[in-house]
Parts: sequence; structure tokens; C-alpha cells
Amino acid sequence: MTSAVPTALHHDEPAGRPITMFGPDFPFAYDDYLAHPAGLGSLPAERHGTEVAVIGGGLSGIVTAYELMKLGLRPVVYEIADLGGRLRTVRFPGCPDDVVAEMGAMRFPPASTALFHYIDKVGLETTPFPNPLAPGTPSTVVDLKGQSHYARTPEDLPAVFREVAAAWDRTLAEHASFAEMQTAIRDRDAKTIKRLWNDLVPRLDNQTFYGFLCDSPAFASFRHREIFGQVGFGTGGWDTDFPNSILEILRVVYTGADDEHRSIVGGSRQLPLRLWEHAPADIAFWPSGTSLSTLHGGRPQPGVARLHRTAPGNVTVTDTDGHIRTFPAAVFTAQSWMLLSKIECDEALFPIDHWTAIERTHYMASSKVFVPVDRPFWLDRDPVTGRDALSMTLTDRMPRGTYLLGDDPAKPAVICLSYTWADDSLKWLPLSVGERVEVMLQSLREIYPGVDVRRHIIGDPVTVSWEAEPHFMGAFKANLPGHYRYQQRLFTHFVQDELPPAYRGLFLAGDDISWTAGWAEGAVQTALNAVWGVLHHFGGSTDPANPGPGDGFADIAPITLPD
Ligand code: ARG
Repeated sequence: MTSAVPTALHHDEPAGRPITMFGPDFPFAYDDYLAHPAGLGSLPAERHGTEVAVIGGGLSGIVTAYELMKLGLRPVVYEIADLGGRLRTVRFPGCPDDVVAEMGAMRFPPASTALFHYIDKVGLETTPFPNPLAPGTPSTVVDLKGQSHYARTPEDLPAVFREVAAAWDRTLAEHASFAEMQTAIRDRDAKTIKRLWNDLVPRLDNQTFYGFLCDSPAFASFRHREIFGQVGFGTGGWDTDFPNSILEILRVVYTGADDEHRSIVGGSRQLPLRLWEHAPADIAFWPSGTSLSTLHGGRPQPGVARLHRTAPGNVTVTDTDGHIRTFPAAVFTAQSWMLLSKIECDEALFPIDHWTAIERTHYMASSKVFVPVDRPFWLDRDPVTGRDALSMTLTDRMPRGTYLLGDDPAKPAVICLSYTWADDSLKWLPLSVGERVEVMLQSLREIYPGVDVRRHIIGDPVTVSWEAEPHFMGAFKANLPGHYRYQQRLFTHFVQDELPPAYRGLFLAGDDISWTAGWAEGAVQTALNAVWGVLHHFGGSTDPANPGPGDGFADIAPITLPD
């Protein structure tokens, strides 16, 4: 079951279907929809070849464009920087090509089944990501208040960690119908999921993660809440999310999103790049061999400077080179804050309540620093203690999480010296990359007094703070208490039959439109919503044997809360 770090090893998977990112807000089986031989739908022939603007060349934009192309439309992708967005894999100058750092998404739960549809389609391989106390992680050090605890399995940690894990399990059982919800998710029982979730949403939307813990008798101890904040569940260190809505956390734990993470061999960015080049066999209208790349002459359009309506229902795009093109439909997939400042927008793009939702969107800051090293020296055993020289490290010091990447003794490897969120990221923001590395190495010296990490570093560090990236302004959305209504508006915007016609034809996608920001699955699911929206907008339809996300919408729509 999903639980705090100390029991993370014990996934006694009940028989039957696995936990997937199905619901709870909108229990639609995106994976089955993608797998069905009938495909995602079909368009009247006179629509074939119609241009649709896709703004943003991250995963959501590329999936949107790929599926629109398969339907016989002509997606026109606009990307201001590099294809791939936050699937950003970088190399270290002067190091071998296969030594890479994942500046954005680096670990993907198998529960993200729509995402894995595309990973499999383009033939990428995955391998276990070395999260704290994960089965494939050689060892973990939990370093709190100046005390280090070395563990190969959760049982190696002091009893207090098991108390904290039990408190979390009890809290979820007593206040979030955890077992019932997971059974319903396994069974794809949308009715039960909705009954449970529709009861929780109005009660918990105004509650923070921390407030939820405090209300639970199981977490009466401040010390337990503090330790829980530092080791948390799944990947650990969730205290930076304490001010966020508890609904955000429940979605993650119900759906296994923080469990059994895998990384993409060779780097995450290959996924959007390979989809860009992929020529699907089952494509309408276009000759075989057509790919996004061939439709674009090899490269996307530049960035978008302005979006406006020249006629109701149209979307007119001015690119950063000054070219103007008008489209009968467009999908916006970049971080929605771009619509507030970087892109000049016409208010007529959205109804006012959608603008409010975009303005209130809350993004988490996040920073990472990586260094290349000569070899995975952490696997060297200390002859006296028998311990690994270095371990995956969770700490309350500045770095918070240190990840050891690579296990081939004959090859260079990589250390993610630090991965932080929210305030812990803001602490790094004004520091240069050199200053960041110095502070991180100092922390590691305190945790591992005998280990000289610096001696193994073979190249320059790379770093990112997503909040300072001009085309992102944050790492991923995280709803605050009271934000449910905003999220619901943005997520459901793809069903436009009730929107005044002047507002139709522009669709939103991206993980920040999804219920699970910070997971690539949300980028894929919302891309499929937008594709369905465009299909419907152009008078197309799905095969009755394979209904899409907007077809049975009323039955599974996210609950509406009163104003
Ligand atoms: N899935 C990402 C990761 O594994 C980000 C998760 C954090 N999300 C959040 N709301 N704090 O690191």
C-alpha cells in the first residue's frame, strides 16, 4: 500500500488490476481510450488538412500535435525555446554523451499509464529510479537534526519512523477512505470513486496538508508531524507542500503517483523528440511516412508573442518573428501564467472566470544541481562499517534530497546534489551555480565526514531554478486551499458546448490544467482532452465503441462546488 517512506518497500500488490492515475476527479480511462483499435475518432473529410495551432512544444503540446495529425489535421507547433519543455535532459560539456542530467521530469510512476503508452510507442526503455528506500536503491541515509540514520531497508530505521508511517496510514484510513478508494481505482469503479471523492472535496478543499495532519488524532505529536514532513511518503520530503490543499496530496497517494518511479534510459527528453519524428501507421488523410517533423519542415514555428481573436471563434497568432496566422482552433499547452505577461492576450480569449483561474494558479518553485563524477564511487564499501561510501540522502539541511545516479563501475556517473521545492528552492535562487555546489558539498561533508566528493567530480555542474526560467516561471502548479473551483474551470474548459460561441475553439492543456501537476501523466491526459475538444469542435466524433473524455462527460465530470 501507499505509505510513508519506512514502509515504501512493502508493496503487497493485491491481485487484479493495478493502481493507476484513474481519477479521482475525472475517472476516465485514458489508457483504454489510447489502446482501442478504433482510435481516438474521425473527422469529416472536408476538415482534413485544417491547420490547428499548438502553442508550446513540451510533452503536452507534442502529444496534442501528434494525435491531431493522426486525425488528419495539420498541427502547427509553436515553441519559443527547445522542444521538450520540462522534459529537459542536458549533457555536461566535455563529458561523454550518455552522461546526462534531468533538469525537469526525472522519475515516472508506472501508474501513469497514458504516459507509458507513448513511452512504449517510441520504444524507450525505463529503469528503476533510485528514490529513498526503493527496492533498487542500494542504501538510504535519513539525516535529521544532525543525526544520520543509515538504512538498506525501512526496518533498519529507528522505531519512530515506523510510528510516523503508521500515523500516516491511519490518517489516510480514518479521514480519506483510503482502502475503499484504492479498491475502486483498481476496479475502475467510477461510481464509487465519485461517491467517495465528491464527499471529500467540499469538506477538504479549504484544508491544507498540514491542517489535515493536525486534525488527525494519529498525528497528535508535533515531533511525528515534523519527521513526517521530512521523510513523508513515496519520494519523501513533502513538508514543502504543507501549505497546499490536502486534495492535491490525496490525488497523489490514491493513484500511486509517488510510487515505484522509473527513469527513461538515455533521458526524458527523448520522448517528445521521438514523438516529433514518429510516423504513425494508422494515420488519416496524410501519406504514410508523415510525422510532425515532416509537416514542419524539421523545426517548429518560433514562439508566440500575441494571441487574439480576429473573429469570434478564431484564434490569431502573432509569432516572435512578427508573422501573423489565423486558425479555426488552437491548443495552448505552455504554463498558463505565460498568458498574463509573456504573451500579449486579448481578453476575449476566455470568459472572465477562466482568467481568474489562470491568475490564481499557484506554481511551486524547484531547483536542482547535478555534477558528473568519475564512477559510482558510492558503491565502495567502508571496510570498517560495511556501509556504502555515500547513500541516497534525505536531509533537513539545504540540499534536502541527494540522488546517486548510475551503477556501472566502468562508467562515469552523476550526482543530483540537491532537488528542492518551494522555500527550499528559493533559498538557492540568488546563489550562483558555484555557490550552490559549495554549500551542498559542505552539507555532504557534515553527513559523510570521511568522503571527498569533490575529488570525483569530472566536469562543470549544471543547475536550474524553474521559477527563474522565463518561459516557465515555476516548476509545476500546486493548488492552495480554496483553489478547487479554479482547477475545475480550467480542466473542464475542453467541453465547450455551453460556452458562448465566441469563446470556443481555444483549448488548454498541460500538467497545470490537470489534477496532477508535476506528473507527466497530467500533461498527456489534458492533451487528450484538448484533442477530443478539437475533434468535437470540427464536427468529428469518436467511435461508439471507444468514447472519448468529453462523450460521457456528465456522468464522470468533476463535482461543481457552489459559489
Ligand atoms: N513528480 C515530481 C517529482 O517526483 C514532482 C512532485 C512534487 N509535486 C508537488 N506538488 N510537490 O519530483
